[in-house]
Amino acid sequence: MGRVAQEQQIGFKREGLEEQEKRLRERMSRVRHKVAVISGKGGVGKTMVTVNLAVAFAKKSTPGKVGILDADIHGPCVPRMLGMKGGILRISPMGAFPATGPLGIKVVSIDFLLPSQETPVIWRGPLKMSAIRQFLSDVTWGDLDLLLIDLPPGTGDEALSVMQLLPEMDGVVIVTIPSEASQDVVRKVVMFARELNIPIIGLVENMSGLICPNCGTRIDVFKKGGGETMSRELGVDFLGKIPLDPRICEASDEGVPFVINQEDSPAAKSFAEIAEKVWRFLSEKGNVAMKTRTEHILGIDKNGLSQAADNKEVDA
Ligand SMILES: Nc1ncnc2c1ncn2[C@@H]1O[C@H](COP(=O)(O)OP(=O)(O)O)[C@@H](O)[C@H]1O
Ligand SMILES: [Mg+2]
Repeated sequence: MGRVAQEQQIGFKREGLEEQEKRLRERMSRVRHKVAVISGKGGVGKTMVTVNLAVAFAKKSTPGKVGILDADIHGPCVPRMLGMKGGILRISPMGAFPATGPLGIKVVSIDFLLPSQETPVIWRGPLKMSAIRQFLSDVTWGDLDLLLIDLPPGTGDEALSVMQLLPEMDGVVIVTIPSEASQDVVRKVVMFARELNIPIIGLVENMSGLICPNCGTRIDVFKKGGGETMSRELGVDFLGKIPLDPRICEASDEGVPFVINQEDSPAAKSFAEIAEKVWRFLSEKGNVAMKTRTEHILGIDKNGLSQAADNKEVDA
C-alpha cells in the first residue's frame, strides 16, 4: 500500500518535515522520561516486560501519566497484552488521541489502525520511520511521566528510527534469555546503544528457569546465568531474572499483565525489583540535557550505520 493511501486511511495530514519535527520536539518535551525496551532476538519477552513495567509505573503515578508506543510495526502485541484489542485512536484536528488501557496507560500502536487482525503491514524502512515519527509528533500524548517504547527484535529500522527521533532517550532496557545464542546478539544490542550514545539502564534475564508446579524441581530450560555473565562481561547493570511461568503467558494472552493480579508470585516479586531499579535509574538521572539532533545524526552517519530515508514518496 502506498504511503499516501495509508496516510489518508489513518487520517494524518501531510506537511513539511520541519513543521512535523518542531511539533515532535514540542510534544516530546512534555514527556519527562523515555525508555525503550530492546533485544537481539524475538520472543524473549520484550513486550511482556514493557507492559508490566508500564503497569508497575502507572501504579505509582497519577492516572494518564504513563504511555506506551508500540514501535513493533510488523508484530504489534501491546494491545493484546493490555487487553486492548479492537481499540482505536480518535482523530481530531489537534492530532490523534492515544487509546487508554488499564490504570489509564496511554497506548499507540499500528494495530489500532489496521482494518483487520490479519492485515499485515508490508512496509520498507522509510515508511516505518515515517509512521513512528507521526506517532511521536501527531499524537496528543499530553504531559507524561514516562513513555515506554516497545521495539521489535534487533537493531533494524524501527530501533534506529526511535533512537534518531528521540536522542534525549533516558535509556534502554535490554531483554534476553539465558541461552548462548541469545547472549551473542545481546552484544550487538549493547554495541548499537553505545554507538548511538544511548544509556543502557540494564539487562533483564527472562525465561530464567522453570519451577515444576508438581514437584518443585527447577528446570533450566534455556540454560542458566547467561544474563548475569553477559552483564559482567559487557559492563552493563543486571536488573534481574524473571522465571518461566505459564501464568505469565496466560496473563499476556488474556490481556491482564501478570503484575496486576499475581503480586505474590516469584515472577512478580522479581519484576517489582526490576521496576524499582529502572525507577531509581530515572529518578537519579532527573531531567537529562538534550544532545543536539544534528550532532547525533552526524554521529550515526560517521559510524556507517544506515540512516533511514525520511520523507520520500515510497511504495512498499
Ligand atoms: N517469563 C515468561 N514465562 C512464560 N511466558 C512468557 C514469559 N515471558 C514471555 N512469555 C510469553 O512468551 C511470548 C513472547 O513474549 P513477548 O513479550 O511477545 O516477546 P517479544 O516481545 O520479545 O517478541 C508471549 O506469549 C509471552 O506471554
Ligand atoms: Mg514484542
